[in-house]
Amino acid sequence: MKTLTLLLTLSLLASGCMADDDGDEGNENSWRFLQKQRDVAAVSNPQYQEECGSCHLAYPPGLLPARSWKKIMTHLDQHFDDNAELEADVQKQLTEYLLLHSADHSSYRRSGRIMRSLNGDDVPIRITELAYFRHKHNEIPQRMIKGNDKVGSLSNCNACHRRAEQGFFNEREINIPGYGAWDD
Ligand code: HEC
Ligand code: HEC
Repeated sequence: MKTLTLLLTLSLLASGCMADDDGDEGNENSWRFLQKQRDVAAVSNPQYQEECGSCHLAYPPGLLPARSWKKIMTHLDQHFDDNAELEADVQKQLTEYLLLHSADHSSYRRSGRIMRSLNGDDVPIRITELAYFRHKHNEIPQRMIKGNDKVGSLSNCNACHRRAEQGFFNEREINIPGYGAWDD
């Protein structure tokens, strides 16, 4: 008897939720709405955030293909003129995390577009060198990037995309330090 009541309650709850979601299209705080707007999956590994987020933001794994992360993770002692070497076990765990959530293993739309924009077997080690990335940023004048103390380089995603680590890059959330919203 109890089980039946529970089942009925659950199904009522479920249908109630579904009705709610339909009415939530325009509510920016609804989980579904946010989920729709997310461009790539949010960074979800605290160890990754700590180890790979100390010099720059922890780049969301869905911004590069697995082969790129693999290459980056096997040359950490010579990481863009820096040494980002890790203990062997940490290196292994973070590599697994990156590969599992890389652009080729993600269903987020921006990851899909990044994959489609890749040239054959290219193994880019920078997000900023992706054709897709360049195309999206080629209209931003240098005075807003290099000539801007608070930005410096396009690698500094979170200077302009405040929720980059959470996977949000939509135009409405862009805030270029000293210049504000992007209006193209
Ligand atoms: C000791 C500092 C340091 C640590 C720790 C570090 N990086 Fe970097 N990383 C850099 C520097 C410096 C650059 C080049 C930034 C630039 O050109 O503006 C860079 C660039 C990158 C880029 C390319 C960004 C672009 O331009 O598209 C990726 C991807 C990256 N790092 C991933 C990682 C990962 C993954 C880890 C963790 C295993 C990590 N980094 C840890 C210093 C670091
Ligand atoms: C100087 C500020 C700035 C920095 C730094 C920056 N971006 Fe952007 N980004 C922009 C602007 C402005 C646009 C919108 C360009 C347009 O539509 O003409 C944009 C667009 C995008 C888009 C496309 C969004 C859409 O809705 O079409 C993505 C994805 C993106 N950026 C990712 C990144 C990543 C990843 C990084 C770091 C590796 C980064 N950006 C660094 C300013 C910046």
